[in-house]
Amino acid sequence: MQSAADKQDAGLSTVAEASRQRGFYLETYGCQMNLADSELIQGVLEKAGYRPVADPLDAGVVLLNTCAIREHAEQRVAQRVRALISASRNSRVRIGLAGCMAQHHREKLLAAIPGLDFVVGPDGYRGLGELLNAEGGFAQLRLDRDETYADISPVRGEGTRAWLTIMRGCNRFCAFCVVPYVRGRERSLPAPVLLNELRSIAEQGYKEVVLLGQTVNAYEHDGVDFAALLRMSSTVDGIERLRFTSPHPADMSARDIEAMADCDKVMPQLHLPLQSGSDRVLKAMDRGHDMEQYLRLVDQVRAAVPDIALSTDIIVGFPGEGESDFEATSAVMDEVGFDHAYMFKYSRRERTRAENIEETVSEEEKSARLSRLIDEQQVRAGAINERMLGQLTQVLADSPAKKQAGWLAGKNRQYKTVVFDPHGATVGELVDVKIEATGPHTLRGQRVA
Ligand code: SAH
Ligand code: SF4
Ligand code: F3S
Repeated sequence: MQSAADKQDAGLSTVAEASRQRGFYLETYGCQMNLADSELIQGVLEKAGYRPVADPLDAGVVLLNTCAIREHAEQRVAQRVRALISASRNSRVRIGLAGCMAQHHREKLLAAIPGLDFVVGPDGYRGLGELLNAEGGFAQLRLDRDETYADISPVRGEGTRAWLTIMRGCNRFCAFCVVPYVRGRERSLPAPVLLNELRSIAEQGYKEVVLLGQTVNAYEHDGVDFAALLRMSSTVDGIERLRFTSPHPADMSARDIEAMADCDKVMPQLHLPLQSGSDRVLKAMDRGHDMEQYLRLVDQVRAAVPDIALSTDIIVGFPGEGESDFEATSAVMDEVGFDHAYMFKYSRRERTRAENIEETVSEEEKSARLSRLIDEQQVRAGAINERMLGQLTQVLADSPAKKQAGWLAGKNRQYKTVVFDPHGATVGELVDVKIEATGPHTLRGQRVA
């Protein structure tokens, strides 16, 4: 027979269990759009009565917001979710995958990963709270060409920089890329909604905003194009700096460049994915532009915004990439002089148009090409940054420096990381820093009053 004390314990643990069921743990993989989606998911779940917890073992719902861009990204998540499932074997926690990998492999994941309870794609977050309130597993994978989540407020993390999704999806279908299949067609949010959101971001104290979309400069809603949106966004008081990512080179209009040049708040920084420096490969990738157009664009941008920093994305080893194509990529990277580059080995993706193109570059050769580009970029970035020695640069202080006690870290206008002795300045301030040392990835210096 149960004693009164046992009964009371059981009652307490039921209360504790009910409270645990309402805790959610969320981990995010992939690009900034996924980070922004996680803030949206958090908004949806908090509205449905859930609260965030920091430890997956304390959660009733464990959710990984995933990426499908390369095989490696998916392998990492598969390992992580298996580990979380085995760690939580004895409790009633529900474990799910959200985002692009969920959309990519769909219901198959539920069978492939025993213990996985649900999958939800990028257009399925709106009803997540209700779905979780019901018992049992589910799959919410309908792509919806109208879903923009315009009416849902994201819960943003602490910091000086906020992310704002202005368009979702992609219509470009580059041969290598899974994004159009997992995020669906392009759709833009209404400008008035975005301006309201920017005002609320400013009220919450953020100084810098990054406008997001997979082809962010393809933004178009009710006659407002990307250039017009940039101009409107720069009128919002309190927001000191605006950035955007990723613009597509073929969508970059003269109007966009003029708006960048005219608006002081739009930072002199542009991520302009190149993928390859060979016309033959660009054509096979179906990128929608050739090298001549890309280089002309770089010239136009530099003429309009002389202190601009340029970054790019490169894929090595796309099927058919010969030695001379690769040399062309290396040469163009040098010619442009990118401040920063993200470089990847081609990863064949199911459902893409390149899926059925036979690979011609061995894994070894891909690795060799990648490490050569990385080495060259390291030297290039080192030389570009060295020119900053002795100069003043404006920095938004983001956080305490990781390695040096008492120092702060932040980004300058060109989005370079600057670590500095603050001389009394605090996180959130815009300060001038005199650069005293440089490396390929970081600048160091002293704040000057
Ligand atoms: N929308 C952006 C790119 C988003 S994906 C654009 O078009 O510029 C980010 C980067 O991942 C791409 O620019 C590309 O360099 C890389 N990438 C995409 N698919 C890939 C694949 N299958 N293998 C290797 N890298 C890939
Ligand atoms: Fe992928 Fe191309 Fe769309 Fe970028 S533009 S998300 S690379 S399909
Ligand atoms: Fe990955 Fe999806 Fe972003 S595939 S790169 S998380 S849009």
